[in-house]
Amino acid sequence: MSLRNEERAVFGSKFAAIATTVGSAVGLGNIWRFPYEAGIHGGGAFMICYIAFVFLIGVPVLIAEYSIGRSTRSNIFGAYRKLAPGKNFHFAGYLGIIASLLILSFYSVVAGWTIEYCIASLCGQLDFSNTEIGHRQFLQLTTGWRPVIWTVIFLFCNTFILLGGVTKGIERASNILMPILFLLLISFCINSLTLPGCREGLSFLFNPDFSKINSSVLLGALGQAFFSMSLGLGCMMTYASYFNKETRLGKTALITSGLDTAVAILSGVIIFPAVFSFNLSPEAGPTLVFEVLPHIFTQLPGGIIWSTLFFLLLFLASLTSTVSMSEISITFFCEEKKMSRKGATLLSSGIALIGGLLCALSFGPLAEIKIFGLTFFNFFDYASSNVCLPLGGMICSIFAGWYMDKKILREQLTNNGKYKFRIFSVLIFFLKWICPIAIFLIFLNSIGIL
Ligand code: TRP
Repeated sequence: MSLRNEERAVFGSKFAAIATTVGSAVGLGNIWRFPYEAGIHGGGAFMICYIAFVFLIGVPVLIAEYSIGRSTRSNIFGAYRKLAPGKNFHFAGYLGIIASLLILSFYSVVAGWTIEYCIASLCGQLDFSNTEIGHRQFLQLTTGWRPVIWTVIFLFCNTFILLGGVTKGIERASNILMPILFLLLISFCINSLTLPGCREGLSFLFNPDFSKINSSVLLGALGQAFFSMSLGLGCMMTYASYFNKETRLGKTALITSGLDTAVAILSGVIIFPAVFSFNLSPEAGPTLVFEVLPHIFTQLPGGIIWSTLFFLLLFLASLTSTVSMSEISITFFCEEKKMSRKGATLLSSGIALIGGLLCALSFGPLAEIKIFGLTFFNFFDYASSNVCLPLGGMICSIFAGWYMDKKILREQLTNNGKYKFRIFSVLIFFLKWICPIAIFLIFLNSIGIL
């Protein structure tokens, strides 16, 4: 696919469609964010809500985004405008742009850590032989001014890919490399199952203590489901606008969400047995994975190779995700504001750079500056994932359930009658009622009204 063409290109094959959306979905959200969110929200209680939200809310919204995107072949603004002229739904696009830039900012910081870890482990500098040294080293790598440099480097790579027209190259590379990442995760998983804290770790993750389900667990799990599936901002809509007419949307949605969830669970199964084996706290927050993983690598034979490879692949997985989230604002500046692709890319990267600097420094020099009690990093994450994404998803499902012409929706889901889509009325029921009401109730609950 070339996203740089003036006329819109179309993916050559169904495989390409799946590979790109999986590339967008699988990233730091699964491997870094899922374990830390599960850790601070009580493990099993979070996990069960997360899985329920992925399949009951996420999948219907994903199918809606795909259908809207492919039927209109345009960005989120154009899509809403074409399907419901004069209805003002396209304002949801602004939410998408702001949130995608906020996400890009803090995401680049974490992706920057992966580059730093990759290089440190390649040079044999990752020494996590005991918790004390590990923690000190983690602080050294992630606080102060150093992460700023890595954030800038990451954003530079992202911009280079978007500008240089190597999107195709990175996608092709990721088609080969992502299965390797998957295999690597499975091997780490098997290793974690042999650790002394395995039983405790698995029980933390899979044994739900229902009394722990509260408003923050519900909102956290909802935000995580949307974040991980790249939903709510029109990202999947934009990608679906490049799908060819053979792609089966329902099936693609199930494969994407299934693989995405599998990677998140694998990551949890790797991290939590290690957390309990090495006496670490599951509640460490955003730093959890970066503190725990090196312990696992240190005790593996050939640890340096494993960790270098792992962080390299994680870096690439992050790139395929940031390319997709950058696309949201770039297509807006290009198609709506008539900017050149180059100008649009530089503008988006420039905004993300400012945001990224604030986030990178919020682990060091700016740690004391708080917005609603949160550092820049945590605020950007919370505001985008827990507010903007579910809100965008709610608008999308209301749109598809109530306003979109059902004939168009059916055509999209059956590929113009070629296939059957047996649960069409169930899907409509979910989009009309279940998804918007559930999201609305979770919002009310989290601000203490319910
Ligand atoms: N889903 C990606 C991850 O898990 C992050 C991501 C990419 C995203 N594009 C997005 C999140 C659009 C929200 C919206 O790492």
